[in-house]
Amino acid sequence: MPLEKKRVFSGIQPTGNIHLGNYLGAIKNWVQSQEQYENIFCIVNAHAITTKQDPHLLKQMTYNLAAMLLACGIDPKKSILFIQSEVNEHACLAWILDCFIPMGEMSRMTQFKDKSQKNAHNINVGLFNYPALMAADILLYDTDYVPVGEDQQQHIELTRNVALKFNTEYKTVFKLPEALIPKQGARIMSLSDPEKKMSKSDTKPHSIISLLDSPDEIFAKFKRSTTDSLNSISFNKEQKGVYNLLSIYQLLSQKTKEDIEKEFFNVGYGELKKRVAQVVVEYFAPIQENYYKLQKEQDYLHSILTEGANKAREIASHRYSIIKECVGLL
Ligand code: AMP
Ligand code: TRP
Repeated sequence: MPLEKKRVFSGIQPTGNIHLGNYLGAIKNWVQSQEQYENIFCIVNAHAITTKQDPHLLKQMTYNLAAMLLACGIDPKKSILFIQSEVNEHACLAWILDCFIPMGEMSRMTQFKDKSQKNAHNINVGLFNYPALMAADILLYDTDYVPVGEDQQQHIELTRNVALKFNTEYKTVFKLPEALIPKQGARIMSLSDPEKKMSKSDTKPHSIISLLDSPDEIFAKFKRSTTDSLNSISFNKEQKGVYNLLSIYQLLSQKTKEDIEKEFFNVGYGELKKRVAQVVVEYFAPIQENYYKLQKEQDYLHSILTEGANKAREIASHRYSIIKECVGLL
């Protein structure tokens, strides 16, 4: 008898173009492990409205993100792909979990501190509560693994804590999910400031490589990227800029660290930047081609997302009725 596949759940916000950090920290791993697991991938549009969004644009970005995920290799025959707001149980469970998460623990979330600095004019309760909705996303589906970048580790800890608290108080209804964080690529850094992670909300466009950047943009951004004055190319974590470029190169070229260090022995930073840019351009070309084709097929995208939501809803509504009963809600 084949063992039952473990279930993976992950989410991504439709708040702008996907960048190299999203791709290497999360999406690439979602695509690669599709065979191994039973997969559920969610476009988390309800999380997106914790920061100000233009309604028309949000809908468009939601569909664009679906097209991009499919272009990257998410296969709807192997994975459920759906939009969070299509399954009401996410918001309902988030409310229940809100009533179990201590204020003190929620107040320690570093992403909230980060985001409230960036959105000082709009620090709303939803932004504070964001991790409760994320915990609901995960716990609704009996998730085993959550493949994400390093920045989400703390949210997954909170998810496990609230699940355990609930299980202890009632009965074991929640599985305790584990974060799947890649050994390399879990934290791709900004090209202009390698002390900071590459982030969609970065105001400097040359800090981010978007999956839709043209070859010229990619070459220009890497050319401007910050390195150091040591003129030495090796996987040395102290050289943050160079390390970031080498990590990107390794993850996309699939070469070993040893081979890469040999390849760049006695090579200057200018040439390193060119070769990294070249690998990125070649890697993105087929993804971009697929994306522009899929983006035109709105009916197809709609059908995939509707089918995904129907499948997700079936699991979520069953699970939610069990959870409601535990608490005494009718
Ligand atoms: P978000 O864009 O915030 O919805 O993030 C989607 C996924 O990309 C999450 O799993 C993040 O952990 C991951 N991610 C975001 N930024 C980076 C980065 N700079 N390096 C690696 N992973 C990242
Ligand atoms: N918070 C995640 C991010 O910003 C996105 C997300 C929402 C998510 N719900 C999730 C990731 C559930 C994994 C599982 O990247």
